[in-house]
Amino acid sequence: MRTQVGIIGAGPAGLLLSHLLHLRGISSVVLERRSRAYVERRVRAGVLEQGTVDTLVEAGVGARLLREGLPHQGIELRYDGQSHRIAFEKLVPGRSITVYGQQEVVKDLIAARLEAGGDVRFEIEDVAAHSLEAEPYLTFGGERLDCDVIAGCDGFHGVSRPSIPPGVLQVFERDYPFAWLGVLARVAPSSEELIYARTERGFALHSMRSPTVSRFYLQVPPDASADEWPDERIWAELKARLETVPGFTLETGEIFEKGVTPMRAFVAEPMQYGRLYLAGDAAHIVPPTGAKGLNLAVADVRVLTEALDRFFSTGAADLLDSYSESCLKRVWRAQHFSWWMTTLLHTFDSDDAYGRRLQLSYLDYVTSSEAAATTLAENYVGLQ
Ligand code: APR
Ligand code: PHB
Repeated sequence: MRTQVGIIGAGPAGLLLSHLLHLRGISSVVLERRSRAYVERRVRAGVLEQGTVDTLVEAGVGARLLREGLPHQGIELRYDGQSHRIAFEKLVPGRSITVYGQQEVVKDLIAARLEAGGDVRFEIEDVAAHSLEAEPYLTFGGERLDCDVIAGCDGFHGVSRPSIPPGVLQVFERDYPFAWLGVLARVAPSSEELIYARTERGFALHSMRSPTVSRFYLQVPPDASADEWPDERIWAELKARLETVPGFTLETGEIFEKGVTPMRAFVAEPMQYGRLYLAGDAAHIVPPTGAKGLNLAVADVRVLTEALDRFFSTGAADLLDSYSESCLKRVWRAQHFSWWMTTLLHTFDSDDAYGRRLQLSYLDYVTSSEAAATTLAENYVGLQ
């Protein structure tokens, strides 16, 4: 078997790459370890930057996103008994975000790939990448797939990054001393906009998926398990962290999904070795506070598509050679923004009174200075 681009992983990065390459007449095969049902049900974040929406629409996979996605012109910051709106329409005119679950993006991409006759294979368990320096190939289940290029789109725990020889990559990481408990509930959102709440009990986030489904997150200890959080405890804690301003009541409903997400940051440099190119979570992860993970994956794939198109149409490898460098500027900006949002809003050490004063001082600054609010807004909607 032979293809131009062998893609490991059918998350948003691998599926979008395969689809964008198809639109440029470049062949690919996607090999995914999990089942189609599993990847379509995997609940993740749901905030799409304008650039991400534009990419999906231009690729012809944005019809349902445009119909069902919820455009947002601002977010709310809640702390110390006050609520403040960060108004995108005023601070970054013409730029906004759309709330649309990542697994909906995955479903739309899988449908588009299969409709176009794309080769996406699920439940392929033993993918390995070989001969990365020249004439690379993938093996799986006794089969061999020769490729011109391999794209490692297999997430943080995938096989592509570990297949790079030791000593090549420089790794940067940070673990946070807490995790997020995320839930989906069948209840209309209690707020039109996302609420990021800093409280002495820890951080809480009110997000949404549709007019009838709400999404919530609670800061929890790093080793917390969803079993320790029966529904009543979740609602009581969400109320304690969100009902902190006069006139706001949190509506409750049936919780139908619960999961704990570790809070971690990671970057591997460079994002390439020989003919292997890493994209999305395979190369970098951010804590979810700024909702940048999916958007970074889409941005990597846009850069990689341009580079591969040039390589296959002219033979010039210059854009491929500078792929990592082109991506890492955006990656590090998002790393900093995610670290900053995380640091501003979470409880770190409950004995650290000095640190709490710093958080409150910065929150006062960001909600009273247009310059500071613009910094938040332009990073949140995504720098070009
Ligand atoms: N072989 C084949 N597939 C694999 C392997 C493997 N050895 N290891 C992992 N995979 C698959 C996973 O099952 C998953 O479907 O690779 C895919 C990686 O997808 P994601 O983890 O969704 O990563 P990515 O496509 O880079 O998307 C980034 O996902 O984690 C979130 O916050 C992140 O929103 C961001 C987005
Ligand atoms: C989500 O809706 O899942 C979500 C929203 C905002 C974030 C993170 C996750 O910062």
